[in-house]
Amino acid sequence: MEDLSLSEYLNSQLDRLCRIVGIDPKSASLLLADLLGPAGSRPLSLPPAWSSGIADDHTPVEFSVAFNHNERPSVRILGESIDTAPSAATNLVAARKFVETQAARFGLSMSRFDRVRDLFAADEPFGGFGLWHSLVFQRGRQPEFKIYLNPELKGVERAPSLVAEALERLGLSGSYRVALENGVRPGELGRADRLTFFAIDLHDAPHARVKLYLSHHDAHARDVVRAASVVDGVDAEEFGEFCVAAGGETGIFAGRPLVSSYTFLGEMDRPAGYSVYVPIRSYVNDDEEARDRVAALLDRYGFDSAELDRIIAALVTRPLHEGVGLIAHVSLRLGLPRPGVTVYLSAEAYQISPPRPRRRPTAMVHAQPPAGRCAA
Ligand code: TRP
Repeated sequence: MEDLSLSEYLNSQLDRLCRIVGIDPKSASLLLADLLGPAGSRPLSLPPAWSSGIADDHTPVEFSVAFNHNERPSVRILGESIDTAPSAATNLVAARKFVETQAARFGLSMSRFDRVRDLFAADEPFGGFGLWHSLVFQRGRQPEFKIYLNPELKGVERAPSLVAEALERLGLSGSYRVALENGVRPGELGRADRLTFFAIDLHDAPHARVKLYLSHHDAHARDVVRAASVVDGVDAEEFGEFCVAAGGETGIFAGRPLVSSYTFLGEMDRPAGYSVYVPIRSYVNDDEEARDRVAALLDRYGFDSAELDRIIAALVTRPLHEGVGLIAHVSLRLGLPRPGVTVYLSAEAYQISPPRPRRRPTAMVHAQPPAGRCAA
């Protein structure tokens, strides 16, 4: 295992994942190799070449499986291009090159990206990244591509005006206003509520999306309900219940932030869809607990939770209670273009986070401080 390269390790996970879901692994495998570039041949016995923010252990790839009604799940890769001399600036150049190559190969539409690309350029992107890739594989279809741009790359305080300009150019100013009015707590833009990603589908079909992601630090489930309430035809309360089912009765989500996204379609004057992403790994003791919560959620929304176990087994063989973070996020999406649940899975190429100790009633008796004081 120590002698494996990053790409060998990730490719064997991807291969198993694709087979389980019924996708031909060949084209996925080629794209993964392209995405990793020379960084793929680096042995796993060496530390990560770049401290990628994609995953907690800096693996530059995260897998996810999106469950949709009436079709097989799709397998997705979130990935970061890593230059041979990695830095936020050189990686951005490498990322743009990867996108150009795929655009030529697959006939992707760059028109919306082209309208905003100058805004998302910086000599030294703040926050460590400029552009991440999403590759989506579905049985019998060409892969689809989405890019995630960093609204904070010129500084946190410049993100709101940068996003305003980008959405203006795309004819989506009205939607942005509606999103900010409801998706941000008063006075918290750039503070507890941050503009985290600006995503663009690289195709031209009517369901091509622009998505704006917000991170909500120290938020309550009710903040998400309020944010979702502006999307026509979705049951906003459902998002609150989802947060509690995934995150537990935390009250305030004080660990990793809740993330949400608004989907903008066409030139509509309000968001067409909404998603919430619960960083479940901050709110469980171990992956067994995360698995049980996610399985219950899949059942609740009419998906096959047995598939989750096959997916997990495609990625790791370790007992789930021996780590935390394999299931990084779980998300619910409602509204257009299609509702569903997505499970985000860490590759754990470099590290497994140790579980938090589960409190056992008998152990607690011994661990209690003297009477009169309260354990935290
Ligand atoms: N690892 C980062 C985080 O947890 C970015 C990220 C990866 C992310 N996958 C995600 C954020 C899914 C939200 C949803 O924030």
